[in-house]
Amino acid sequence: MQPAAQKVEHQLTDKGYVPVYTTRVIEQPWASYTAADHQTWATLFQRQRELLVGRAAREFVDNQQRFGMSADAIPKFDELNRVLRAATGWELIGVEGLLPELTFFEHLAARRFPVTWWIRKPEQLDYLSEPDLFHDLFGHVPLLLNPVFADYMQAYGAGGVKAAAIAPEALVNLTRLYWYTVEFGLINTDEGLRIYGAGIVSSKGESIYSLESAAPNRIGFDLERVMRTRYRIDTYQKTYFVIDSYEQLMEATRPDFTPLYARLAQQPSHAAGDVLACDKVFQRGSGEGWLDDGDV
Ligand code: PHE
Ligand code: CO
Repeated sequence: MQPAAQKVEHQLTDKGYVPVYTTRVIEQPWASYTAADHQTWATLFQRQRELLVGRAAREFVDNQQRFGMSADAIPKFDELNRVLRAATGWELIGVEGLLPELTFFEHLAARRFPVTWWIRKPEQLDYLSEPDLFHDLFGHVPLLLNPVFADYMQAYGAGGVKAAAIAPEALVNLTRLYWYTVEFGLINTDEGLRIYGAGIVSSKGESIYSLESAAPNRIGFDLERVMRTRYRIDTYQKTYFVIDSYEQLMEATRPDFTPLYARLAQQPSHAAGDVLACDKVFQRGSGEGWLDDGDV
């Protein structure tokens, strides 16, 4: 028998909260979810679905419906996998918490998306410092049904394996790309800007802030620009990058990044809130409420 699934979280040490990494792949212990866990899912699901009407990219909600996700209960990975495998050949795997970077890349490169099995506590509805089941399933999984986005995610994983063998700085550049697209991306549609980033759609506050606040910049996606831009892990983003389509993302990232990493290593990075002369600006942020330090 498999050992019981663990919940691996940040731990408080004398250096503050530090992330703890785990590599084990586990069966989703669905029967162990309590009524309170299902209630947490229901509360978050309903709240975000209401907020995301007219804010999230259309296929985001459509795809949740194709999966049969609802507020009724925490979805079963097995059931989602039946839909997902048939559509794009991706598969969800259960994990206990954050994975080491290379392990994460290897899963993506093999079209396996790691999903944290545990869900946040009721007192963490609005914020927690690491991915949980709600962020992973509600936020990331819907777009894996989109064939172009699904290919992008696999290519990103393969690119990560490659970058890890090049230099730590290459990984920094690549991680910025993931952050500003997969986690915090906006997309320009006929109906206006919409959210597709998982970090936004799974956050009540940022779902509104990213689109409606006057504070952040909203700037057209440019690969090198994004890979040079630092970001925030502890506040809403100062800048959101806007793609025109998932095809644009796929095409921009198709070339071999090896020479790009070499070039980027010679160039300084941009602060999270910088606006450059070359930017295609949808909105120049007012900067209200920004902290001066803490970009990573
Ligand atoms: N084309 C990139 C490379 O050669 C890989 C990649 C694809 C990275 C998609 C990110 C996203 O490294
Ligand atoms: Co995420």
